[in-house]
Amino acid sequence: MKYQKLRGMREIYGDEAKLISHILEASSHIAQNYNYSEVILPTIEEAELFTRTAGETTDIVEKQMYVFKDKGDRTVALRPEGTAGAARYYIQTAAPQTIQKGIPFVKIFYKGSMFRYERPQAGRYREFIQWGAEYFGNSHPCADVEIISLLDNILEKVGLKDRVIYINSLGCSECRPRYIEELKKFISTIQDSLCYDCKRRLTSNPLRILDCKIDSPRIFTLKDFPKPTEYLCTNCSNNYTEVKKLLNLIGLKYTEDHLLVRGLDYYTRTVFEVKSISNAAAQDAVAAGGRYDNLIQQMGGKPTPAAGFAIGVERLASAIINNQPDYTKRNFLLSDGKQPTRYFIVITSDNLLPDAIKLSHNLRTKKGLFVEGPISGKSIKNQLALASRFNFEKTLILADEEFKERQEILIKDMSTGEQKAIKLSDLDSVIS
Ligand code: HAM
Repeated sequence: MKYQKLRGMREIYGDEAKLISHILEASSHIAQNYNYSEVILPTIEEAELFTRTAGETTDIVEKQMYVFKDKGDRTVALRPEGTAGAARYYIQTAAPQTIQKGIPFVKIFYKGSMFRYERPQAGRYREFIQWGAEYFGNSHPCADVEIISLLDNILEKVGLKDRVIYINSLGCSECRPRYIEELKKFISTIQDSLCYDCKRRLTSNPLRILDCKIDSPRIFTLKDFPKPTEYLCTNCSNNYTEVKKLLNLIGLKYTEDHLLVRGLDYYTRTVFEVKSISNAAAQDAVAAGGRYDNLIQQMGGKPTPAAGFAIGVERLASAIINNQPDYTKRNFLLSDGKQPTRYFIVITSDNLLPDAIKLSHNLRTKKGLFVEGPISGKSIKNQLALASRFNFEKTLILADEEFKERQEILIKDMSTGEQKAIKLSDLDSVIS
């Protein structure tokens, strides 16, 4: 045969193709129940969009981008990841349609091929599929927790049982430079033993030394190695504590990994990765993400906090196949095609935020319901206006007195205005 497929490219067929389609469909279905909407993003963008956002000295930009000139002499690139394109979409298209009309946040998901010119090996391809979600416009730790719990819920429902969530905090533009200074000082003491690339990174981007497959395993074992969380400013430290508190509250287990820095420059504060512990290529994450509060502004948009993640779909499929060899016998059907009732959780004060987060998490994960909220820092009027703007059929209102003293929730029908109080313990049998 004269033609062979290119190195690092795959064709996916049979049961694996079926599983991959199921993962994509299940992820989208679950995300819609968290009020995320699909955006089909371009595969090709201006190359500069990626070089500026991922970071000029990251491996993705320095070594892995498919860059070429198009017929109009523009320097363009096949997307190596989805966040930069999603952020461009947010600034160019979504923000003018939402934020300026009083809708404070935008939640989207996307799927499709990403391209990185990597050295091909198991779980590492040059074209691979990501399913990703991004939450723009919410700086509160409840957004970090929503993103992580959405990811965990997807992984649970598609059948990845042996997963571990690793989390860390990378701080902000105030405290990160202090950490980088310390890291630089520390690594300078061993600079002679660094690989060629890391010697360069020591001046250009010391944090990226911690992604280096050659040097980082050895550096991490050195005594007195400085960890990012030891240098967090008070705000970032409180923020990280709150994220962990909310994760504990909804019963989501995680492991802190103080060495997790991620391979992209745009992250601030919370970062996370999920690994399948019994997978052959266990060192590789099946999904990863974090907060990137400065990116939208750096790209020319209004300052907008954001957080998100992407699943490596082939890696997830391979982890599921390794975990459960009989996965093909599973029923891949998701829904009966009926439109679900959509619930918006309203709180009368931020004191009720933890209870409301717990309720929202339980309704989404245990009952698979379509639920939005709670949204912190907004008046009741504002929250109800948002619920009706999004055309929610019902709101579940948690009021200080009724909830705290009597464990009662008000269910309000948004079309008739009718409302009735119901005990939290009876909620399960009343709503579906
Ligand atoms: P990332 O860690 O570069 O993050 O990629 C996310 C996931 O894509 C990885 O955890 C892995 O499962 C998969 N992946 C990456 N490279 C390859 C490859 N060469 N072959 C197969 N799978 C691969 C991002 O891309 C960020 N945009 C995630 C994000 C979204 N952060 C915030 N929002």
